[in-house]
Amino acid sequence: MGLSHIFKGLSMSTPSLTRTIRMQVPANLEHLVEGPNTYAGTPLTEGIGAYFEIDVRCVGPLDATSGYVEEIHEIDRQVREKCVPMLADAMTGPAPASAARLVKLLHGAVDSSLDSTVDLLGLRLSPYHEVRMECPEMNQATLARRYTFSASHWLRNPDLDDEGNYAVFGKCSHPNGHGHNYELEVRVLIPAGDDAMNVVELDTIVETRVLSLLDHKHLNLDVDAFKELNPTLENIAATCYHLLDAHLDAPSGRLSGVRVWETDRTSCEYPTP
Ligand code: NI
Repeated sequence: MGLSHIFKGLSMSTPSLTRTIRMQVPANLEHLVEGPNTYAGTPLTEGIGAYFEIDVRCVGPLDATSGYVEEIHEIDRQVREKCVPMLADAMTGPAPASAARLVKLLHGAVDSSLDSTVDLLGLRLSPYHEVRMECPEMNQATLARRYTFSASHWLRNPDLDDEGNYAVFGKCSHPNGHGHNYELEVRVLIPAGDDAMNVVELDTIVETRVLSLLDHKHLNLDVDAFKELNPTLENIAATCYHLLDAHLDAPSGRLSGVRVWETDRTSCEYPTP
């Protein structure tokens, strides 16, 4: 304990451990039922609660006795003890809480209760909406929000004949095309105060600038960006980024990157983080 405290604050060349804690938070804490951090997300509630996931990344030297950066049940215990009341307060407070500010408060509470340094804390509000904060940029958070669109395309090089295209692109070169259900994650840097852009504003920009152009379209035939650009996953990710960057360029919300999944096993990040 003493040793790791000495190294607190150092993150270079030290191992890290990431733990996900799932929880259901009742609006009324009297309904909270204590229990272990089960796979399904204890503490359970009597009745229903709001479901959250918190990712905590701990860095620090390995404990000489255990070989741990931090003992996972201690992480669970501290996160539940500190974060559940803060989340309940945020849910029932008089004004809507800024998610980035809340993440900063959660980070401070968890970091000060563990021996290791917590250099990342992510709050997942749904499987498709996350706010995370990473050292040393503790005055900003990353808002990551997912969208979906369906589109068809073919992959062909106009300089090649059918046989040549098949040799390069396989069945993706079929001249009548094929379709995918894409997922798009947009990552925006937001300030950790009340002046962060709100999610409705982000949704509107993504809908107007990307989804309305790509969703239920044939990329090669209907979308100007792909008239002369092969709509590979890599080019789709770069195009989504460039469709958004001029419109997400304010202190309240600045585009940091996108990730596009073509299938659940294949995705592309642009730019590479
Ligand atoms: Ni395809």
